[in-house]
Amino acid sequence: MFSVGLLWSLVVLVVFTTATPTPAEEGRIVGGEVTTIREFPYQVSVQLHGEHICGGAVIGDHFVLTAAHCFEVLFPTEDYSVRVGSGEHATGGHLLSLRQVITHGGYNPQSHDNDLALLILNARLNFTEHLQPVPRATLVEPPTMDTRLVVSGWGLQAEESGTGSAEIGGGVSPTLRFVDVDLVESDQCRRAYRQVLPITQRMICAARPGRDSCQGDSGGPLVGIPAQGGPARLYGIVSWGLGCANPKYPGVYTNVAAFRNWIDAQVGAWGWNGLLAAWSGVQ
Ligand code: ARG
Repeated sequence: MFSVGLLWSLVVLVVFTTATPTPAEEGRIVGGEVTTIREFPYQVSVQLHGEHICGGAVIGDHFVLTAAHCFEVLFPTEDYSVRVGSGEHATGGHLLSLRQVITHGGYNPQSHDNDLALLILNARLNFTEHLQPVPRATLVEPPTMDTRLVVSGWGLQAEESGTGSAEIGGGVSPTLRFVDVDLVESDQCRRAYRQVLPITQRMICAARPGRDSCQGDSGGPLVGIPAQGGPARLYGIVSWGLGCANPKYPGVYTNVAAFRNWIDAQVGAWGWNGLLAAWSGVQ
């Protein structure tokens, strides 16, 4: 969950800090611009008790991909919902209930490895110009330095580091924002976080001076338009970082391409269960 992510960031800051907090840490999507859901029709707001906790990306007519750490403190499935088709997390579009939250079994809250969750919606989505799935990246076509990467979300207006409590209340941006970032090569990212955490093959890093995702953007999509052209693809899920837009520390994203088989297996299993249920209903 966002609050755990924030707390974790604070703990790391306290333990490892040589870095002074930058003004950018008080950003939402840092250094970005307001946008509309038409531009980002795959973006959703994942909500707990009707409050935005994380972003997410529509990848199919029943499926949303988000971060496992959004569910670190797991409430009953009925307590969660997903707002689709709206550029405002609090109104518009449709607020949908969940059938199931599948967090990756290998998710490690300490290392943030395998930070991925698949949400299965109760209802089938009707795609419109405000609501569209985004195709997933594959390992055979990894993002390159000239892939145009864009990350979107409602983020936080300010990290409430003073209180130590991660109240999300008024902190999130009411309107969706986005920012362009660039891929950071794994070796460079590994060096940047050497003293902090290992960068695994299930992570990719992205940064640009003064620009970043931030607390509350977690679970949201990092989408890229391949330099050679072709459709936009989902490359990453906002996962973690030390501060926000800190020049020393890139944003770290779950490497979606590394989870193709896992996602396909979950989606497939759900399909079979659905068929079996429908079939036994006929009997
Ligand atoms: N863990 C954060 C959250 O729960 C996301 C942090 C992203 N940080 C970054 N510097 N890109 O919202």
